[in-house]
Order: sequence, then C-alpha cells, then structure tokens
Amino acid sequence: MNAVLKLSLLLLIITLWACDNKTELPQEITVIPEPAEMTIRNGSFQLVSNTKIITSDEIEKQAALLLLSSFNGLSDDQVTNDTTKHNFVRFEIEKDIADEGYELEITPEMMSIKASKPSGFIYAIQTIRQLLPIESKELILPTLTIKDEPQYPWRGFMLDVSRHFFEKEYVLKTIDRMTYFKLNTLHLHLIDDQGWRIEIKKYPKLTEIGAFRVDQEDKPWDARLVNEPSEKGTYGGFYTQEDIKEIVQYASERGITVMPEIEMPAHVTSAIAAYPEFSCQEIPVGVPSGGLWPITDIYCPGKESTFQFLEDVLNEVMELFPSKYIHVGGDEATKTNWEKCKDCQKRMAIEGLDDTAELQSYFIKRMERFLSSKGRILIGWDEILEGGLAPGATVMSWRGTKGGWEASEQGHDVVMTPGDYLYFNQYQGEPDYEPLAFGGYVPLSRVYSFEPMVDSMSAEQKKHVLGAQANLWSEFIVDEQISEYMIFPRIAALSEMVWTPKDKKSWDNFSKKIDPLFERLDHMGINYSKSVFAVTASSKYDTTSKELLVTLKNEIPSSEIRYSFNDEPLNASSLKYTSPISLKETTLIKTAVFKDNVALGDTLYKNLIFHKAFGKKMSYKPKYNKSYAGIGDLTLGNIIRGSKNFHDGQWLAWLDDEVEIIIDLEEKTEISAVRIGAMETQAAGIFYPINMIVSLSEDGSIYKKAGELKRPFKENGFPTIEDFEISFERQNTRYVKVMIQNIGSPPKGGGAFIFIDEIMVE
Ligand code: ACM
Ligand code: ZN
Repeated sequence: MNAVLKLSLLLLIITLWACDNKTELPQEITVIPEPAEMTIRNGSFQLVSNTKIITSDEIEKQAALLLLSSFNGLSDDQVTNDTTKHNFVRFEIEKDIADEGYELEITPEMMSIKASKPSGFIYAIQTIRQLLPIESKELILPTLTIKDEPQYPWRGFMLDVSRHFFEKEYVLKTIDRMTYFKLNTLHLHLIDDQGWRIEIKKYPKLTEIGAFRVDQEDKPWDARLVNEPSEKGTYGGFYTQEDIKEIVQYASERGITVMPEIEMPAHVTSAIAAYPEFSCQEIPVGVPSGGLWPITDIYCPGKESTFQFLEDVLNEVMELFPSKYIHVGGDEATKTNWEKCKDCQKRMAIEGLDDTAELQSYFIKRMERFLSSKGRILIGWDEILEGGLAPGATVMSWRGTKGGWEASEQGHDVVMTPGDYLYFNQYQGEPDYEPLAFGGYVPLSRVYSFEPMVDSMSAEQKKHVLGAQANLWSEFIVDEQISEYMIFPRIAALSEMVWTPKDKKSWDNFSKKIDPLFERLDHMGINYSKSVFAVTASSKYDTTSKELLVTLKNEIPSSEIRYSFNDEPLNASSLKYTSPISLKETTLIKTAVFKDNVALGDTLYKNLIFHKAFGKKMSYKPKYNKSYAGIGDLTLGNIIRGSKNFHDGQWLAWLDDEVEIIIDLEEKTEISAVRIGAMETQAAGIFYPINMIVSLSEDGSIYKKAGELKRPFKENGFPTIEDFEISFERQNTRYVKVMIQNIGSPPKGGGAFIFIDEIMVE
C-alpha cells in the first residue's frame, strides 16, 4: 500500500468515526439565553483535530480562530479555504442575518455557522460552548438548527469599581462571563465619592489622592469615620491608561463595548479631595471611606474652570474608550452648596435659570453639547430629566421605569435598570441567610420577570427602549467571591430576559435549566448563590378558626418542599408541603427544598412564637405609611416576623413623630410584658424608637401607664432587628396602648422612619 493510499484510508476511518451519529449525547441540551428558534434532532457531530474549519475572508478566519482557541485539542492549522464534503465546520458571512444574530446548522457531517457581523460568530461560539458536554474531552455536538438574534441591542451589566476596587484581571474575567451569556455592554462605574479609578494624565492628583482612602474596611460601611484631608489613604487602586486599553481591547474581541461612567456633578468627593478648586466653597476634604449622605461636595457649575477640567478629563476618556455612549452619572446631587455659592448664583442669573434643578440641567446640557461635538452620545441616570433633558441625551432609568417612560415619551432613547428588579447589590434570598447586602429583595425569578418595554408605553415609546442592564453597586461587595455570589446566577436570568423574544421567555422553562447551569458554574469555579433553592415562609391569620396558616414557597415551580416541627429532624422523609400548615401554638418550623433525597439549599428555621395579641384587633394613630403597610392592620399580631428586608411585607412604617397603637385583647387577660419588634437601617433612614410607653385599660377609655423604655440614639452601621421589652407587674386588662416615639431628626440629617413588626403581649 502506498503512503497516499494509507493516508486516505486512515482519513476515511477517522471521518467515519467522526460522523458516527450513534455517539451518545452525554446530557440534556440547555442553552441560556434561550435561542429564538432551536430544533434539536437525533444524532451528533464530533469536532476533532482533523475537522476542517473553512473560511473565505478575514472576519470568518478570526471567528474560526476564536472557535479553535475556545476548546482543547484543536489547532489553528485546521483553518483552510478549501472545501470538503465531510467533517468540516464552515463560517460564512450572510448579510441578511440581523446584527449580533447567527445561524447554526449541525448535521452528522458538518457544522455551518452564519452571521453578518463578528459578534454573531462570537455568540454562535458561546452557544456551541453550552451545547458541549461539561466534563468530556470529546467535542460532541447534537445535530440541530438554531436561528438566533437578540431582542434588545443593549444588554448591559455594571461593575462599581469605586466603592471597592477590583483588579483588572477580575474585570477581564467578568467580560468572559458576560460574553458567555451574550451580554454586550460593560458599564464601568469608575468614579464615586469613595474612589477615582482611572488615570488621567493631565490631573495626576485624581489618582494620587482620589484613588486611595483611609482603610476602614474593618468597620461597617455606614459607620466609617470622616477622614481629614491630611490622612494618608492606603485602601484603593486605579486602572492605568494601559490597563484600560487592555480591558477595552479584550472586551472588543469578545463582542463587548466598555462604557465608562464619569460621574458629575455629584458622587465625586474623591475628585474634590484631589482638586477642591472645582467645588463651590473650595474647602479641602478627605476621600470618604464609607457611606456618605447627603452628597454635598459636588462640582461647581458657576466656574468656567470646572467645565475646562471636565472636558479635559473626558478628552482623555474618549481617547481610551471608543464607545458611542459616555455615561456622566447625574444622580443624587444635593445642591445646597450651589444655593450658597456666588459663582453658581451668578451663572443662574446670567443664564436665566430659576432654580438649582435648572442649574443641574444647564450642567448636563453643556456636557451633552461637548460630547455630541465629538460624535458621542451622553447617557445619564434618570435625574438628568429634572430641570429639562439635554437634546441628544439617553436616559438610564434606575428609580423604577418611570424615568424611562418619561424620556421615551419625549423621544429619547432609554436603558432600563430599575433598582427593584436589576440591582444585584440587593438580597436574593432571606437576608438572615445571605452575605450582608444593600437591602431590598431581588430573587432570580424577579430578575427574569422584568420586561424592559412597559405595557403602558405607546409603540413609538417602545422603539426608544434600547434594552436593560443590571448594576452591581459595591458598598457591600468587599471581594471577588462576594461579587461572584451576587452576579451568579442572576446574570443568567438577565441574559435571557434581555436576549430571548418575549413569546419564548418562560420562567418554568428557565427554572428547568438551573441544575445544568449550576453544573457549568461549578465547572467554571464560580462562587454562585444557591438561594433560588431556599424556602420562604409567609402566614395568614384565619379569623374564623383562629389559626395561623403558614405558607411555604420556593421560586421554582413544583419544587419539593419538606418540613418538620421543633425537635424532629428534617430529611427526605419529612412531611412534604402541599398546602398551608395550620398552627395554634409556638412552633419551630424547619424547611428546605429537596431533590433526589437531598436538601438543595439552606434550611429555613422559622420560629413562630405565639402570644396574647395574636390575631387581635389593632388600631393605629396615625395610620401607617402606604408604602410600608405590611399585610394591613393584622401585621403586628400575625406571628410571622419581618426580616432585614424592609420590603418583605411584614413591616409597618411611619415617618411621624409619635405613633399610638391600641390592641384590644377582646376579654380581660392576664399580662405582664409587651415586646416591640423594631428594625434599624440608618443608611436607609430607618431608626429605632427613642421612647416606648405601655399603658393599660380595662374599659378602653381610662389608661394607666404600666411601663416605659427609653432608648437613646446610637450610631449603628448595620441593618439590625431588636425586640424591646417593657415588663410590669402581672395584671388583668383588656386594652393595651403602645406609644412609640420616632427620633424625628437624625444627627446626619434627612427624615426618619420607624419600622415595627409584631407587638408581642405576654
Ligand atoms: C444610582 O443608583 N444612584 C444610580
Ligand atoms: Zn458653585
């Protein structure tokens, strides 16, 4: 046999082997985000070291090289422009395919990948990564047809690298992971009060001073002390211009645009610390190490030099970031210094501005003119609507979708990033079981349920919705482990929400993909959260049977919830939850989600402590706040306790100075104590009561004071819950009056809420 014949035979054998469509697929096929159209057939195709990768131009060739570098055991030598009939992969540019879209055809003989743009090829390769078995070294793909394109052109994720600094390597890692989920915009929040994170050559003090703060990482974020300008900063860091170039290039090769955010006029204490001359009063300040509210050290728009500085900064920024959009922040400026500043007042007089809202609008409009003169588009938080929106501006709607709605009505483009759906710094499970977070509650299913186009928008408004973005603010994101925990798996829900056509989105289907997703995240070594498997409990008082009905829930439809009481162990043979559990006495419920006889997530321990005010009528003077009305009048006597998530529907709240609650025990009852459950989250303006008085009455008209508890204000950087007990001599009574006094005006300014859950009478 001659050598050529030998070689052909060998090739034939390899080819036949490669085309063996009986090869078992090792797993179920799941792709996230769900493709627009996908038909899976029987059979498989195997990509091996002699599979030809056919390309006919440079873009196709680059895509081929990306494919080859994505998997082990392949080499660049496989790329060719020869055609063949068997065992090949062909990349082909097809002009009719939408931007970022792709078509993937896999038969036992070949794989065809078509797209109109490089990003389409990149996304096809991400789909292929997910089609491949997790562990196997063999690259076996199912035969199928996929036609896929994104629903929205803006699929964003924001990293706050100011409140805590993250190394360049972590940013690059995050870019890889965004590409995996077909996201295309990385918003880098580079500037905030607590750190300036980008080198600006013309203003070196921005990073020499502004990038470092006194290390108070051992203290709670909101209890950190004010730093003097003379104190040397040791916590921090920044990206050099070379780092930024590397990040931008790396992202671009992966289909991702990096959009910088250069905050103004507020959230810039780090810049004012470096250059006080750009603030109104020009008083030197230290870079804050933690929570700062309200934000008053802001840029002065009365001085021309401020605009010169910002234009210089933006010129360097635009050199580094080719992104069409430049984010200028614009949020949360407290303008008290502008009111007192002669330069600002002069500016307002000359420009005919009626108030400081219009002065902010002047500020942003001026920056918008500058950016648009350079061919860029200004984007800002929804506060830029206040005082009048700049002509060419795009709005990022964070305080719900309202700002996006308004901007789109005015004919502006919008990106939706509402805090109550897409702020990944909020809790994704019961706060007591989670790492310390910002508050709020954004579980996986809630991210999934968001719809960027609001129903009440007109067709014209909907055209302005570019897409959606999730934000990870990093006050409580102290390291990469916590960052991963907060991002995963919620980024997967984000990706399907913003990529997949509306009629293909289904939480039911998505929830079936969670197990395989977690296997992949395990394989990638990502520290993801399993809170989606946690059980949540709520209760209802049945007024006729006088029982407490406890409902157990899990986000995943038809998941197996098991529970046990008190000392009974919780395991796979514990009771299976099917309908609300009826209770009449103090009980510890233990519950978890089970699958294949093992508990998937944390066990929830719910201690339901019965007391004499359970289910009793309570009247309130004044009535509780409409936004925090719990389950209504019965909230404080329903046994279920509020968690550190003050939106959990178990809290009643008041902004009033004094609250009076009267409990009617219905008949004379022997009691000796009242315990008042309260929450404090000072950063959110929630404070413990400073005084509580219990009075008792037999007839409901004449009350006698039974006890009082004074509790002076103490600084507290954490969200905390405490039961305040007022005990007294045992006595028979029917009416219990509880007076609760609000701190009223907290030391750092702003309003004060009191949050109460459960008034326990014993
Ligand atoms: C923001 O969360 N202040 C945009
Ligand atoms: Zn000023």
